[in-house]
Amino acid sequence: MEKTKVAMIGCGGRNKVHLDKLTAIPEVEFVGFCDVVPEKAEAFRAVAGEGRVFSNHTDLLNSVDPDVVYIAVPPHQHGAIEFAVIEKGCHFMVEKPMALEYETAEKIWNAAKAKNLITGVGFQDRYQDLTIRMKEYLKDRKVGLVQAAWMGGIPGVAWWRTQATCGGQIVEQNIHLYDQLRYLFGEVKTVYCRAEKGIVEPDSAEYNVPGYDLEDYSSAVLTFENGVIANVFTSCYHRPGSVTDSGMTVYAKNATLRYKLRNSLDITDETGTYETMHRGEEQTGIMDRTFIAAIRSGDTSGILSDYGDALKSLKLVLACNRSIETGKPVEL
Ligand SMILES: NC(=O)c1ccc[n+]([C@@H]2O[C@H](COP(=O)([O-])OP(=O)(O)OC[C@H]3O[C@@H](n4cnc5c(N)ncnc54)[C@H](O)[C@@H]3O)[C@@H](O)[C@H]2O)c1
Repeated sequence: MEKTKVAMIGCGGRNKVHLDKLTAIPEVEFVGFCDVVPEKAEAFRAVAGEGRVFSNHTDLLNSVDPDVVYIAVPPHQHGAIEFAVIEKGCHFMVEKPMALEYETAEKIWNAAKAKNLITGVGFQDRYQDLTIRMKEYLKDRKVGLVQAAWMGGIPGVAWWRTQATCGGQIVEQNIHLYDQLRYLFGEVKTVYCRAEKGIVEPDSAEYNVPGYDLEDYSSAVLTFENGVIANVFTSCYHRPGSVTDSGMTVYAKNATLRYKLRNSLDITDETGTYETMHRGEEQTGIMDRTFIAAIRSGDTSGILSDYGDALKSLKLVLACNRSIETGKPVEL
C-alpha cells in the first residue's frame, strides 16, 4: 500500500512534536514543509530527511500533493490556510484554538464537511490513558462538583502575549481542560467567568514580556446540561515550579478522582478502595497514529476530536471571554 503523504504548515514548537511522532510511523512520507521563516521549514526537512521547503502555504499547495496537512500556526493566522487546504482536497489536523473568531472556524468546518474531508483537532488529552480511565470510571457514577485548573507561567513565543494574536489564556491554553470537561461531562448550558490582571508586570525584569495585555487569572463557573457544576481556574502569573495544581478533581457520588495534568490519576471511593495510575504513553503520539490510520482506512471512528466537535469547545472558551467582557453569564 502506498505511503500517506504529509505536509506541514507552521514549523514551530507544536508541529515539531507532531513531526517527531509521525517520523515513527513507517507508512508516513513527508512531501513538504512550510513556514514564513523558511529556515524553520528547512530544519524540519533535515529531521525528516525528505520533503520540499516553502515560505507560504499557496506555493506548498501548488507544488506538492499531500494526502494530509498538519497545521500549527499562531491562533490569529487561521482562515486562508484552511480554505486553501480544503480547496485542494486535503485532509487536515489542525491545532487548537482553530481560530479566534467562531464564524471563521464554522465556515472552515462547513467547507471541510462539504468535501467529505477527514479532520482532526489537537485535543491530545482525549487520547490519554488517564482520561480514558476517568471516562470509564465515571460512566455509571453521578457527578456533582468539579474543580479544574490550568496554572502556570507565560510561554516564550511572542504571539502568546497579546489578546489579538492568542485570544487569551483560556482560549489558547486552558481550552484543553475545557474540552476535557466536555468530553467527560457533555455540553455546557451556561458559563460565568471573571478575570483580573495586575500581578504580571510586563516590563519588569521578573516577567520581561513587553506588550503583554492578557488577563493574569480567571475563574469560571460552568453549568452542564447534566447538572454538573465545574469551577475552572486559569492563571499565568506563576514562576516555574511555584504551582503544581493543574488538573482536575471530580467529586462523584461516593468517589473522588484527582487528575494531575498529564501525570497521574488517584481514585478513592466509598469502599475505601484507592487506585493510583501514572500516565503511560504520551498522548500526542497516540493521536497522530490514530489520525493517520483513519486517513489510510477511511474509518474515522477512532478520531476523538474532529473539527465539528472541537467547534463546541471553541464556542465555550469564546463564551468565557464574552462573559469576562460583559460581566454577565453567557448561555450556550
Ligand atoms: N495541542 C497541544 O498540546 C499544543 C501544544 C502547543 C501548541 N499548540 C498550538 O499550536 C499552535 C502553534 O503553537 P507553537 O507552539 O507551535 O507556536 P510557534 O510559534 O512555536 O510555531 C508557529 C510557527 O508558525 C509559523 N507561522 C506563522 N504564521 C504562519 C503562516 N501564515 N504560514 C506558515 N507558517 C506560519 C511561525 O513562523 C512559527 O514557526 C498554537 O495554536 C498553539 O496553541 C498546541
